Amino acid sequence: MKTMSDYGVTPQAWGPFAEGQFGIFTNPILTEIGRAHGKTAAQVALRWNIQRGVVVIPKSVHRDRIEQNFDIWDFSLSKEEMAKIDTLDMGHSSIVDHNNPEFIKMLHSLKIHP
Ligand SMILES: NC(=O)c1ccc[n+]([C@@H]2O[C@H](COP(=O)([O-])OP(=O)(O)OC[C@H]3O[C@@H](n4cnc5c(N)ncnc54)[C@H](OP(=O)(O)O)[C@@H]3O)[C@@H](O)[C@H]2O)c1
Repeated sequence: MKTMSDYGVTPQAWGPFAEGQFGIFTNPILTEIGRAHGKTAAQVALRWNIQRGVVVIPKSVHRDRIEQNFDIWDFSLSKEEMAKIDTLDMGHSSIVDHNNPEFIKMLHSLKIHP
């Protein structure tokens, strides 16, 4: 986060629910914090990223969930709540391996413009 900030890069979460893995929607920490604010675990997860300066791109095919995912602007997580959620960090991406040279090679081969 610090390095990205130094270069003026805003991080984006493409998969802010870890693609729905790891029981994120019933995670006890997210659920308990959500209960205190009248919000779901999903909303707490999104709010946590927003508050730390990460743009979120959640996906749902369900209208009620899409509406729920927009409804995160009327509450704030405390410093303590943010820190509690930080403890869920696994220390690595569950989706891609940024230390895998083959993956980095593939990224460099992508062309944004033809
Ligand atoms: N993950 C990546 O590596 C990646 C890469 C490039 C682009 N993207 C784009 O980033 C966006 C998000 O990525 P993603 O779909 O992989 O992961 P995601 O948003 O982290 O997770 C999506 C999963 O969460 C469920 N969900 C969404 N809102 C929910 C809610 N409020 N309560 C309970 N379940 C909820 C969805 O189910 P339902 O749809 O059934 O509600 C789906 O199973 C997509 O537009 C994707 O195209 C992702």
